[in-house]
Amino acid sequence: MKAIVVYESMWGNTAAIARAIAEGIGEDTPALSTAEATAEALEGVDFIVAGSPVIAFQLPTEKARANLGAYETKAPTPPDRSHPALRTWLDALEPGSGHAAAFESRIWWSPRGATGTIEKKLAARGYKAVAPAERFVVESAYGPLKDGELERAREWGALLATAVG
Ligand SMILES: Cc1cc2nc3c(=O)[nH]c(=O)nc-3n(C[C@H](O)[C@H](O)[C@H](O)COP(=O)(O)O)c2cc1C
Repeated sequence: MKAIVVYESMWGNTAAIARAIAEGIGEDTPALSTAEATAEALEGVDFIVAGSPVIAFQLPTEKARANLGAYETKAPTPPDRSHPALRTWLDALEPGSGHAAAFESRIWWSPRGATGTIEKKLAARGYKAVAPAERFVVESAYGPLKDGELERAREWGALLATAVG
C-alpha cells in the first residue's frame, strides 16, 4: 500500500487532522495540501484519504472560498487560500484505481457535510471507500479542534491502514 492524505484547510484544523491521520496510517504516509499533492506526489499511490472543512453545509466551492473574505474580520487569521479547493483537486484527479477514505472537519450540529461529495468524486476516478467517512469536530466557526480529536484521527488512520491491509 502507498497512501497519501490530501487536504484543503483555510484555518489549519483540517490540516492538523490530516497530519494525525497520516501518522496513524504509518510513518511513510505524507499529509499534503491540494497544492502539494501533485501528479508526481501521486505516483504509485493506491490509497487516497481526502478531507476538507465543511463550509456553508458542503464541500467548499470556489465561490464559497472567494466569499470568505466577508468573514475575515471575525477570523483569528485570514483564510489560507494558497492551495486549491479539494473539490477542484478531485475534479482534476487522473483516473486510477485503489482505495479511498473521506473525512471532514466541522461544527458538531451541521445538517449537511462534505464527505459524501468527496467519496462520490473519488469513486468516479476509480478510488472506492474502504471505511465509512469520519467527522472531526471544532469548538466554533474557526476552531480550535475539540479535545481528543487529534487522538481520534490517529486511531482512525491506524484503522484505515488495517482495512486496506
Ligand atoms: C464561513 C464559514 C462557514 C462555515 N460553515 C460550516 C457549515 O456549514 N457546517 C459546519 O459544520 N461547519 C462550518 N464551518 C466551520 C468549519 O467547517 C470548521 O471551522 C473547520 O474546522 C475549518 O477547517 P479549516 O481550519 O481546516 O479551514 C464554517 C466556518 C466558516 C468560517
